[in-house]
Amino acid sequence: MLEVEIVSNSQVVVGAELLATARVAVIGYGNQGRSHALNLRDSGVCIEVGGRNGSPALANAHSDGFRPLSSELAVADADLVIVALPDEVHGALCPMLLGAMKPSGVIGFLHGFSVHFGMVAVAKNRGVVLVAPKGPGTALRERFLQGIGIPSLLAVHQGGDDPGRAEALALGWAHGIGSARAGIVRTTFRDEAETDLFGEQAVLCGGLCELIKAAYETLVDAGYPPLLAYTECCHEVKQIADLICDRGMAGMGSAISNTARFGGAASGERLIDSSVRTRMREVLADIQSGAFAARMVSDTEAGSPRLHAARSLAADHPMEESGRAVRALLPWLK
Ligand SMILES: NC(=O)c1ccc[n+]([C@@H]2O[C@H](COP(=O)([O-])OP(=O)(O)OC[C@H]3O[C@@H](n4cnc5c(N)ncnc54)[C@H](OP(=O)(O)O)[C@@H]3O)[C@@H](O)[C@H]2O)c1
Repeated sequence: MLEVEIVSNSQVVVGAELLATARVAVIGYGNQGRSHALNLRDSGVCIEVGGRNGSPALANAHSDGFRPLSSELAVADADLVIVALPDEVHGALCPMLLGAMKPSGVIGFLHGFSVHFGMVAVAKNRGVVLVAPKGPGTALRERFLQGIGIPSLLAVHQGGDDPGRAEALALGWAHGIGSARAGIVRTTFRDEAETDLFGEQAVLCGGLCELIKAAYETLVDAGYPPLLAYTECCHEVKQIADLICDRGMAGMGSAISNTARFGGAASGERLIDSSVRTRMREVLADIQSGAFAARMVSDTEAGSPRLHAARSLAADHPMEESGRAVRALLPWLK
């Protein structure tokens, strides 16, 4: 049984009609901002793009046919301001955006992080909404151009003076980026922020990456060729992930050999045992308490030493060399 509400087409239509006559500002033109601005413009929405002086990203906006403005100018007349800036700078930059917005302007986020964990405070009379696409900006643009879309989560943190208008602007925004073609799911800032962070940390960008690295190192330490180790433990992840996305976990299980299924079931449970589940609960508690968010913000304030160290550690790992060798065999990969 579904315990979430999927937005109906009739609700989306109301939003799309409102957005067609609204002015929208997209602040930041990076991974997400570019795709939101282009998809909304292609959907007929009036868009201003804003950012900081000398921003390399705004040069891309210029090449895409926008006439980028300073953030203050871009938001001044906007009915909806889309904050497409890195989460860790919201606390420092949103007061300036909010101060430059007209009183009826609604502020929109792509992740609940900064609002839910209290880095951004907004006066009660202003609408605060969320449209969080469940995928990277590149996929959002590519799927839109293919006539399909990626799903988005939608939430209203506060409706402000006109709750119906704030929600309709969010619905129109989700529709304009193509998410109505894939599904718009109603949620809250809290649920979006906490599940998104947990998914990233436990699986997508944390647990999975460490699992791959540990398996690669196990094979190489045992004397197997690095190229084989990389292919088996890393490169093939995409084929299995595609099967899981297309058919579900059980469907993936029936698309692989009996040997793979038999061995995977036994060894998977041996590896991901109750001690891993205990630590997963600890990771979740760290997120829910706000401790993770506080560490992220203090790292940013100190010049991001932990973030830079994590990036360098990943770039310097020997498996990167093996990855380049595997990809060189597959020239069709971008
Ligand atoms: N990336 C994803 O796949 C994804 C998916 C779902 C939701 N989100 C959410 O989308 C939002 C934006 O993330 P993103 O990955 O798109 O961000 P991003 O690409 O890292 O950065 C976006 C923009 O912010 C500008 N910027 C960076 N630091 C700045 C600063 N201190 N002052 C002013 N401008 C600054 C950058 O331009 P310049 O450096 O050129 O100025 C860039 O245009 C976040 O809330 C994130 O959680 C991201």
